[in-house]
Amino acid sequence: MPRFLFRQGVDICIKNNDIIIRTPYATRSDPNRQLLRISDAEEPIKKLVKKLSQEGIESNQYRDIPKEIGSTSPNFKLWRQLKDFYRKGLLIHEISGCNGIAIRLLPINPGIKQQLCPSDNKEIKLSTFTSIQPCLEGLDITSPLTSTTLRLQDHRLYPLIQRLVAPCTLESIRLLLPEDLCSQSQDIISLFLSSGMAGICNSEQNAEIDQDAIKAGWNKQDLSFHSHTRRHIIDHYQEELLPREINEASPKARNQRIILSTVSLPKPSIDNQDINFYQVLKKRKSIRTYKTSPISIKALGSLLWHSMHTREEIICDPALTRSYEGLLRPVASAGGLHSIELYLCIKQCIGVSPGFYHYDSFDHSLGRMSDLNKSCQNMLEMAVNTTCRAPQAASISPGQGQQPDVLIVMATRYERNSSLHSETGLAYALILKDTGAIYQQLYLVATALGLAPCGLSFGSSELFEKASGISRQIECSVGEFMVGNPGQ
Ligand SMILES: Cc1cc2nc3c(=O)[nH]c(=O)nc-3n(C[C@H](O)[C@H](O)[C@H](O)COP(=O)(O)O)c2cc1C
Repeated sequence: MPRFLFRQGVDICIKNNDIIIRTPYATRSDPNRQLLRISDAEEPIKKLVKKLSQEGIESNQYRDIPKEIGSTSPNFKLWRQLKDFYRKGLLIHEISGCNGIAIRLLPINPGIKQQLCPSDNKEIKLSTFTSIQPCLEGLDITSPLTSTTLRLQDHRLYPLIQRLVAPCTLESIRLLLPEDLCSQSQDIISLFLSSGMAGICNSEQNAEIDQDAIKAGWNKQDLSFHSHTRRHIIDHYQEELLPREINEASPKARNQRIILSTVSLPKPSIDNQDINFYQVLKKRKSIRTYKTSPISIKALGSLLWHSMHTREEIICDPALTRSYEGLLRPVASAGGLHSIELYLCIKQCIGVSPGFYHYDSFDHSLGRMSDLNKSCQNMLEMAVNTTCRAPQAASISPGQGQQPDVLIVMATRYERNSSLHSETGLAYALILKDTGAIYQQLYLVATALGLAPCGLSFGSSELFEKASGISRQIECSVGEFMVGNPGQ
């Protein structure tokens, strides 16, 4: 029997004839859980609400109200109310068989539209954007395109998933179902469609629901990342279930690295500016060819100082329990976290011997970590190879790109962001935005200093891990930038 019942996180309060429903949902702009009020509720509605929060109700009983008697039917108001609860993401829809609950549609956001089983000549297919995660009750199917999770609790339904990877007729789905569930095949198909995990196939044999995303060229990973980090509605119930670190101090802003020796960098003098800010903006461009005379320690010191040196160590959100150490630097960073550190593969620089260095933004110095080992050479080589693919690289034919004097590698201490953003899920998205801010800062400062700047798209966490000796889960590279003295 298919059944509707309120999902977890829906709290009901009935006072006289008013029903107040506290939903599990809030928005990014208003973190309070949204309320739903039903004023002057009649007895049948009150009964319906009570049943939905206890044993649930049979979901098909109000489905077949003939259109002509529609609004005059005593059940019409109940049917309309149920539809409203469903659309608002408050109802679980589940189907049971001889093994108990077989399949459940679990809403995680409002905006769900119930879809009935289509006519027999249609074919159905799983959305290409779905993912499957095991959970204690069975398998959870999710998709970045929907507001639900579809939970398969009866393992006899698992083969269906595999079959639905290709278009399936309704009959072939029916044949796959065990006997006790076969009689409910229409409801099962309806659940797959309503959950958005499967769709009716179009002429190109794609699930219709995928069409826009396929047309726009989205891949599954990007779409998941995007929908996860740009969602407007928050499911409070799910967030409260997230594992929380108890009383764990937030990671320090300053992190010690093992270094062999230190090279102090000169602080720049600010009185020799011969180019103003607007001229810098106008002049900024990517330059990928270098003079044979290398960059100097003075220019490198100025670039790092104006881009990344730590101006001040601060305590962020001091009045809150989540207060944490932040930094102020010339470049901006979400929440003042500044989880990104700079590492430098120095091929040649007057005043600094070749090697792999960490920039100490507090002391404005370079900490030598190793010589210019094989991994650093590989990173420089990778920079050359990817340089040749740039759009305006006509001046450099493939294979003739130049290695920069210095390859700057940006690496993030993920833990800094994750400790603050465990609930928002924004940690990695904000790291990438911080990376973008650093790219632009390096571009502008390098331009002002008359250096040749060029950001890079390709980088290797593996090579960075080998060069730095730091586990890539602890600190991982997220961006690369080349600098040198500009050639013609
Ligand atoms: C995030 C980012 C990645 C880039 N990746 C590369 C790259 O891999 N290779 C390259 O030669 N240029 C790269 N560039 C430079 C762009 O190709 C360049 O900014 C673009 O062609 C516009 O030219 P302009 O910088 O001279 O205005 C990158 C720039 C940015 C901001």
